[in-house]
Amino acid sequence: MKSYQIALIPGDGIGVDVTDATVQVLEAAAQKFGFQLNNTEFPWSCEWYLKHGTMMPKDGIETLRAFDAIFLGAVGWPETVADSVSLHGLLLPIRKAFTQYANIRPHRLLPGVQGPLVADAFDILCIRENTEGEYSGAGGRVHQGTADEVAVETSVFTRTGVERILRYGFEQARARRGHLTSVTKSNAQKYSMVFWDEVTRELAAEYPDVTVSQMHIDAMAAKMVMAPQDLDVIVASNLFGDILTDLGAAIQGGLGFAASANICPDHSGPSMFEPVHGSAPDIAGQDIANPIAAIWSAAMMLDHLGEAEAASAVLSAIEAATAKGIGTHPGKHATAVITAAIIAELEL
Ligand code: NAD
Ligand code: IPM
Ligand code: MN
Repeated sequence: MKSYQIALIPGDGIGVDVTDATVQVLEAAAQKFGFQLNNTEFPWSCEWYLKHGTMMPKDGIETLRAFDAIFLGAVGWPETVADSVSLHGLLLPIRKAFTQYANIRPHRLLPGVQGPLVADAFDILCIRENTEGEYSGAGGRVHQGTADEVAVETSVFTRTGVERILRYGFEQARARRGHLTSVTKSNAQKYSMVFWDEVTRELAAEYPDVTVSQMHIDAMAAKMVMAPQDLDVIVASNLFGDILTDLGAAIQGGLGFAASANICPDHSGPSMFEPVHGSAPDIAGQDIANPIAAIWSAAMMLDHLGEAEAASAVLSAIEAATAKGIGTHPGKHATAVITAAIIAELEL
């Protein structure tokens, strides 16, 4: 029997609720499709930070390296630990350390889910650069607390980084409907984004079968609301991709539906799977978080592990449940009810 070593990091808030739900679905899938998932849970979180002074142990990254995949719920509890500490101590270092440069975020309406838009059929794959750009962490502050204070946050875009994420996007577009939209702000940002546009044009020559559009981030935000059905694959930088994927989540019915995969394409390290949403302190621990985003992310994990049949069965089970009206609106059903309905569909 095939077996996979999975590192589970439930994290904070509803990260714990949705990870718990996801593990139940994964167990049902493993049983049905005849493979084994050996889960090792790591309690790294803001609570862990308050006891240990760090978000994970010194050798945390080395510990994770041994796993076939990482599943993460959500990190952040700003009431007790500043986000700039918690996210830079756990989530962001994992993405960087394992060169998970491709953050894949699908946006489409599940059956029975009513989005806020008139458009009822759209299928967007957002590919977000995940290791550099605006999240490079380069910068600093001087004259802190004085009238002369200056804060600088430098975006770093390397040819390696830009080329590989765009190439990833072109390959995805080729495998889908053949259209790629590269998102920049090259009318205002004259170095990094002009460079990004140039690399896009260079690569476009290698993919004559893919039609390429270039859009500014502001126009894209409007387009995603006005005409999402016209979009196929979107490639964007780290920050722009972050913002567009919460927008994508909104048009697919809410953050509870938006899945994501942090892929290390050359398999030099584990990839990480997590919902787009955060720890949602406002609803944590109340059994009302929508677990669908997390369960869909787990389906992406199964696919990545090579269990394609189980992956599509989990996605079909989610769709069968929502088609019956389960979990289609925020707060309509409890986390446990949605989870049980998906497992029931999977076991049919
Ligand atoms: P959030 O995504 O946690 O919540 C935004 C809103 O969406 C809230 O009203 C919340 O109740 C709702 N929501 C989110 N997920 C939901 C779900 N599954 N079901 C139903 N409703 C859901 O964003 P935020 O409030 O900006 O961030 C809270 C904390 O999470 C912060 O510490 C933030 O930094 C962190 N965060 C972590 C991640 C991550 O770990 N990947 C992602 C985003 C935010
Ligand atoms: C996400 C989150 C993170 C990001 C935060 C929590 C650092 O918003 O995964 O979308 O910006 O990447
Ligand atoms: Mn985000």
